[in-house]
Parts: sequence; C-alpha cells; structure tokens
Amino acid sequence: MASGEIFGIIGLSGAGKSTLVRCINMLERPQSGKIIVDGVDITALSGRELRLARRQIGMIFQHFNLLSSRTAFGNVAFPLEIMGMPRREIKSRVTELLRLVGLEDRASAYPAQLSGGQKQRVGIARALASNPKVLLSDEATSALDPTTTHSILRLLKDINRSLGLTIMLITHEMGVIKEICDRVAVIHNGRIVEVGTVLDIFSHPRSSTAKAFTRDILNLDIPDALWKNNKGLNGKLLRISFIGESAARPVISSVVKKFQVDANILYGKLDYVQDTPFGTLIVAISGDAPHVEGAIEHMTSLGLRVEMLEAPPAAGENGKAAEKCGVGEAG
Ligand SMILES: Nc1ncnc2c1ncn2[C@@H]1O[C@H](COP(=O)(O)OP(=O)(O)OP(=O)(O)O)[C@@H](O)[C@H]1O
Ligand SMILES: [Mg+2]
Repeated sequence: MASGEIFGIIGLSGAGKSTLVRCINMLERPQSGKIIVDGVDITALSGRELRLARRQIGMIFQHFNLLSSRTAFGNVAFPLEIMGMPRREIKSRVTELLRLVGLEDRASAYPAQLSGGQKQRVGIARALASNPKVLLSDEATSALDPTTTHSILRLLKDINRSLGLTIMLITHEMGVIKEICDRVAVIHNGRIVEVGTVLDIFSHPRSSTAKAFTRDILNLDIPDALWKNNKGLNGKLLRISFIGESAARPVISSVVKKFQVDANILYGKLDYVQDTPFGTLIVAISGDAPHVEGAIEHMTSLGLRVEMLEAPPAAGENGKAAEKCGVGEAG
C-alpha cells in the first residue's frame, strides 16, 4: 500500500478481511510475514514501542463502537485522555476534529441521539485523534443507507486529500471500491488473489471472486420483457460491452453512418469507475448482411466486445448466447 492512497480490500464473507485488519493493527499477531507501517516493521515491536507505533493506525468499524455513556466530544477525547494530553489541548483538538467531520454543533450529543452517519463521523474523528498515518476501515459503511454511505465516503476522500492520510478500506461492496479507491486487492480464503487499479480489476477480472463482483455491471442479464417486446425484431441482437476510451455511443452512431445499418439501443447499463466510463448496451442492428458483418468487425476493432444474442429457450427455440466475434476483453 503506497503512502497517501485509498486502498480497497474486497472479498466474500469469511474471506479473511477482518483478520487481515486485525493483523495490520497487531490485535492479532501474524504467524508469518511482516507488517511495515511507515517504514517500521511493527511485528518486531512489543510493549511501549508497539503501543506508540499503533497510534499511527486509526480504525473505524461497521457498528461504530462508540462509548454510549460519553458524548460525541467525550468519545473523541477518549484516546487523547489515554495518551495523557492536557485538558486544554484536548478541548481544542476535539473541537477541531468535530469541525473536520461536520459535527461541531453535536459535540454534547450522546450516541443514542445521533444518526448512523453521525455516529460514524464521531468514529472517524476519534480515529484521527492521535494523528495517524493510516486509517483502517472495516465495513464502515455497511450499516448505512446508500445516501449516508455516499456522504461518509466523500468525507473519507476529503480527509485523504486534505491530510494526505493513507486509507485501507475493507468492504464486500463493489460500489464502495468503485467510488473512492485508487487500487484494490481481492481476498479469497485468506489469500490475496489479485491486486490492481480499480479499472484493471473491472476490465480484466481474473479470479472467480473478482469476476463475481464485476459481473453485475459488465454482463448484465437481459430482462425477459426485452424478448417478449421484440418478438418480430428486425435484425440481429448484440450485446456490446466497453470500458474506457472505447465509449460505445459515439461508435454506434458512426457505425450507422459508415455501414448503412440501423442500430436501435434497447437496453443498457452505463457506469463510471471514477472518471472512466464502462458498461453494456443491448442493440438491435439491421441492414444487409455484409454491412452488419462489417459494422460488427469495425466495433470489435475499436476495442468493444461484441456478442451476438439469441433468444432464451422460453422465448425462442435455441437458447444459446453465441459468442460471435468477441475479442474476449474490452478496453
Ligand atoms: N490467512 C488466514 N489464515 C488462517 N485463517 C484465516 C486467515 N484469514 C482468515 N482466517 C480465518 O477465517 C475466518 C473468517 O475470517 P474473517 O472474519 O477475517 O472474515 P471476513 O472476510 O472479515 O468476513 P466478513 O465479511 O463476514 O466480516 C476466521 O475464523 C479467521 O480466523
Ligand atoms: Mg469482517
């Protein structure tokens, strides 16, 4: 993990994500290997040295882990009291941290009086109290609704940028990875099976876990209604997938002009990994056979993945989605 990056770890339940986090902050001692934080191998430390080194690592949790008997202020102050910081300094530091997470007006509220998103903001302020170099987040947004998740992820990104804080974000949701991570590692059965930029993993998933996580978006299932509503459909039905530069819509309009075919977009899913578009379109393409062939070849040569579809058994006679001339991978 490089300094200053937001690094995601994704894996199914039981894959070993929390175990990895517990090793990184030395709540569990790994049986082999080293944990190097800011140049120091913390597995070689013990006692007071280890306690000091662990201050470099902040942590936030799925269920916030706040002390219910303490206010927001009191929760953020807690690690500073343990560090033995003088009262006056604690007051100004906590005020500054609550301002950073947008909770300056809720300092005297108890956890029970705060929403989930606000509780996690307190958790973030508390994790940052000792000025850590690294923030570990174990499913920190899994208990939150999508809007609140989004606002917490924005906050983490802002903190990453403004403080240069390195963040390790553990999740089982691809949406979380897609939204803010620079790189991602896929973990399966206690092993890291794949590491790459988020775009890498989306465009060339190799492990079965990565394929499962990206399948929803790239290989969208075709709704039955699409077959029913297009029974007498003229032409061929294509599934066109694309990532990055080869954005599909301009390509389709140029193909229509160049090859004298008609293209009718029936269904699709478009999304972004940070600034890069990717997605899948279902397109009915009609015209003279050689023109249609030419159009398909042209799209393939531009890096789009093109598959010809046939109706499933329920709707037609033959249920195979024949891979016509897909290049295997887009992008
Ligand atoms: N590298 C490993 N070697 C040996 N055992 C491991 C390893 N990684 C994980 N385990 C064991 O696998 C079990 C599940 O691990 P863990 O709780 O870390 O999963 P998780 O990915 O956090 O799952 P969840 O998404 O449900 O929180 C634990 O019993 C843990 O001890
Ligand atoms: Mg876990």
